[in-house]
Amino acid sequence: MSKDIKVALVTGGNRGIGYELVKQLALKGFKVILGSRDPEKGHKAIQQLRESNLDVSFVSIEVDNQESIRQAADTINENFGKLEVLINNAGVYLDENKKLVAMNPSILEKTMATNFFGVFHVIRSFIPLMEKQGYGRIINVSSEYGAISELSHPGVGAYKLSKFALNGLTRLLAAEFHGDIKINAVDPGWVSSDMGGPSAPRTPKQAAESILWLATIGPEGPNGGFFNDGKPIDW
Ligand SMILES: NC(=O)c1ccc[n+]([C@@H]2O[C@H](COP(=O)([O-])OP(=O)(O)OC[C@H]3O[C@@H](n4cnc5c(N)ncnc54)[C@H](OP(=O)(O)O)[C@@H]3O)[C@@H](O)[C@H]2O)c1
Repeated sequence: MSKDIKVALVTGGNRGIGYELVKQLALKGFKVILGSRDPEKGHKAIQQLRESNLDVSFVSIEVDNQESIRQAADTINENFGKLEVLINNAGVYLDENKKLVAMNPSILEKTMATNFFGVFHVIRSFIPLMEKQGYGRIINVSSEYGAISELSHPGVGAYKLSKFALNGLTRLLAAEFHGDIKINAVDPGWVSSDMGGPSAPRTPKQAAESILWLATIGPEGPNGGFFNDGKPIDW
């Protein structure tokens, strides 16, 4: 692997915003690893990208399964020996139209397991690859729902809490990392995907474009921030 080619991993890369992130990173010259928990869906997405002459690889990664994450980190270490960009994109929106205390607690638990603990464990497993080189760019795909002001309105409790905690994790880790390792959270806006639904005004392509500047920021770039379309969002 040439030292000049940067390696990037996108979780939940088989569809939606994640698929576009993979595509655009590959178009920018990254060696991209498309992470998917379902090998069949992952290979289908890889096939589509290869038909456009994009050089992408597959890794199986289920973010609410620590053994799966550990195996993915081992595979990437063996095959590439490094990771410069990590995009924690995989996420779930499981809320039904219920107040937090009225919902089945398993909805909150599953949402936290994926959107918060999943990201935590992925970072924990991949950070040694970044620390080895003293370089890394981590992007956590969050949501405007994760802003503290959103907690003053009822509804969407599980998802809001998961992204609120994710934003907190982003800021805390930014304070703890050393060297040229940067971690930021980003709200992609309301995006037409399986999660966002067909009425959403933004395309996955637009969302990916609004996220990827954080993958190439220099040492003077932001760390521990929360952004939408390049502008800081009020926490
Ligand atoms: N769409 C929006 O309007 C919007 C707004 C704000 C923030 N976001 C955030 O943007 C990110 C991407 O959303 P999207 O709209 O592209 O959603 P999506 O179309 O529902 O895609 C979600 C992706 O996450 C994967 N995933 C879910 N749970 C996983 C797990 N446990 N392990 C591994 N992969 C898992 C899915 O894999 P499978 O295909 O196997 O299910 C899929 O690839 C999410 O973090 C979401 O919260 C979206």
